[in-house]
Amino acid sequence: MDLLIYGAYGYTGDLIARQAAAAGEEPTLAGRDRAKTQHLAAELDLPHRAFDLDADDAAAELDAADVDAVLHCAGPFVETHRPMVEACIETGTHYLDITGEIEVFESLAARDDEATDAGVQVMPGVGFDVVPTDCLAAHLAERLPDATDLRLGFQAEGGLSPGTAATAVNSMGEGGAVRRDGRIQSVGSAHETRRIDFGRGKTGAVTIPWGDVSTAYHTTGIGNVTVYTAVPGIARLMMRSSDLFAPVFDLPGVTDTLQDLVHATVEGPDEATREHTNCYVWGEASNDEQRVVSRLVTPNTYTLTVDAALLIARKVLDGEWEAGFGTPGGVYGPDLVLEIDGVERTDEKPVRIVGA
Ligand SMILES: NC(=O)c1ccc[n+]([C@@H]2O[C@H](COP(=O)([O-])OP(=O)(O)OC[C@H]3O[C@@H](n4cnc5c(N)ncnc54)[C@H](OP(=O)(O)O)[C@@H]3O)[C@@H](O)[C@H]2O)c1
Repeated sequence: MDLLIYGAYGYTGDLIARQAAAAGEEPTLAGRDRAKTQHLAAELDLPHRAFDLDADDAAAELDAADVDAVLHCAGPFVETHRPMVEACIETGTHYLDITGEIEVFESLAARDDEATDAGVQVMPGVGFDVVPTDCLAAHLAERLPDATDLRLGFQAEGGLSPGTAATAVNSMGEGGAVRRDGRIQSVGSAHETRRIDFGRGKTGAVTIPWGDVSTAYHTTGIGNVTVYTAVPGIARLMMRSSDLFAPVFDLPGVTDTLQDLVHATVEGPDEATREHTNCYVWGEASNDEQRVVSRLVTPNTYTLTVDAALLIARKVLDGEWEAGFGTPGGVYGPDLVLEIDGVERTDEKPVRIVGA
């Protein structure tokens, strides 16, 4: 397998590297810490390279490793995507990552022409964020081709990994985001609440600045996109009031201290938790006359991230790719997510909107 996994010794990179090795594949493992990269590569008997994320160094390393694709797992990607995608474009290497950050999706979408000219696929978001929601968006757009509004949401069990928590710390005090009339708009944190039936009865959910605010538009062309997640009442209140503390996060050292705390205390869900938890995804597309609702049940978000990232990496290496910026549901279609073990999709009957 001519794949390089960068950030291989992080929580998620490690899970991906182990699953690829268990399947008999031989990706090159990479990361900035030589000892940690070497240690994991020795344990899994895989080739490795240690290098910092500097575009020139990374390009030289990709050339030397002679790989066809990179699976970038070192986040927060807002800090790491640029040098890696530049190295990929320079060396004609496909770029995949597991970001969920709107800013990163938009930054990479803006490189569509460069990626097309280089003949490489640039596909961020090949993990839980955004594979299931993006595929559900594509499915809903097929069910209601003239939809004007898209709402997506999820209820996840099982807790966060260190990197996900660190990425969340980075965005504290930055508020939320939705898409309106095709444009991404800033809104307050948890600015809208809604009771959603994710498949197990209605529960409270709030809006979050999830990657689909960027990607669902690229996949479906639907101009109004809102993403929700299920959270308990007290957390909804805390999310809303976090905007009041926004200036605190700008003070010198506050974010760094919180990042250190995250790395010292968050370990990520263990194997038993990953095995026994699920995620419930809901989506609704509508226009003035009709509404369609579909749902997915998926394995734990990190299990799904590993499976989805490797599924897409294998497709790319098998020659299934499109040059330029692409989204998972856009390039591989709505049923991509159904190729992952343990994923099920259900559709409600379309509903005619009263008074239409
Ligand atoms: N899309 C999804 O659904 C999904 C799922 C899982 C994770 N993620 C995202 O993936 C990222 C990693 O998560 P994780 O839990 O695996 O994190 P983690 O355990 O903290 O690992 C992060 C990895 O990235 C490396 N790294 C961080 N900053 C770097 C930099 N500037 N240059 C080079 N390497 C750097 C770290 O190396 P050092 O230890 O040397 O710093 C480590 O190998 C996060 O952004 C997270 O939000 C997304």
